[in-house]
Amino acid sequence: MILKKYTKDKQTQPKYKMSEDNKLIVIKPFGPSIAKVTIPKEIVDKLNVYIDSVVEDAEKSKKLDYGTKLAGNVKQEFYLEKEIMEKSGWLNFLANSSRVWIENSMKVKMTKFNLIQSWVVRQFKNEYNPIHWHSGHISGAGYLKVPSTFGETFQKEKRNVNGTLELIHGSKAFLSSSKYNIVPKVGDFYFFPHYLMHTVSPFTGTEEERRSISFNAFIDESIYNVFGSDVSISKNINS
Ligand SMILES: [Fe+2]
Repeated sequence: MILKKYTKDKQTQPKYKMSEDNKLIVIKPFGPSIAKVTIPKEIVDKLNVYIDSVVEDAEKSKKLDYGTKLAGNVKQEFYLEKEIMEKSGWLNFLANSSRVWIENSMKVKMTKFNLIQSWVVRQFKNEYNPIHWHSGHISGAGYLKVPSTFGETFQKEKRNVNGTLELIHGSKAFLSSSKYNIVPKVGDFYFFPHYLMHTVSPFTGTEEERRSISFNAFIDESIYNVFGSDVSISKNINS
C-alpha cells in the first residue's frame, strides 16, 4: 500500500517538525575503527632530516631498502633504524597514540605494543601504490612531505583523487560506503587495523616528493583475538 500522505507535493512541505525531544541521531556502528592524529612537528622535522641523510647516502639507502617487502610502484621505500625511531620520539608517538585509539575504540587496556617495522615511502609523479594490506595487528600511514599540487584530471569535470589515499572495506551497498578518501597533509597520521585495504593514486604536475611513513605492530593477543580463545578446552579434548 502506498500512503497518500507522502505524495511528492506533500514531501516538500512537511507538517511534522523535529524538536529537541525527538532529535534524530545517526548510529553507524559497523566497520573498522580508524583514528586520525597529528604527528608533533618536531618529530616530523627530525624524521625528515634523517630521511634526507639516508637519501644522500647510497650505501645506507641500499642497506635499509624495504622495496622488495612492499607493494608500492614507487621510487624508494626504506625502513627506519631503531635508533632514530627512539631518538626522534617516533616510537613513543606510535605506542601512545595506538594505546589511546585502542582504548577509546574497545574500552580495554592495551599493555603491549611490539613494533614489527616502520618505513618510509618516497613517491614521485606517475608512481602509485596498488591496493594492498599490512601484516601484524595494527597499522597506519601518515605524511612527512606533500607536494603543493597533485596535478589536474585529464577531464576537467572529473573528481580529482590524484595522490590521495583511499581506505577500502567491504562492498558498497545502500547506506554503506566501501571506501574513505584521504587528502594527505603534512603531520596527519591515520591508524587502522592491518587488514584494511588501501591504495594511493598517482599524481602529476610536480617534481616534488610525496613522503609517507607507515608501521605495523602487534598488540595484546587477548585484544586482537576478538573471538576469544578455546585453547584450554581444546587441550582437554585432545589429551
Ligand atoms: Fe600500506
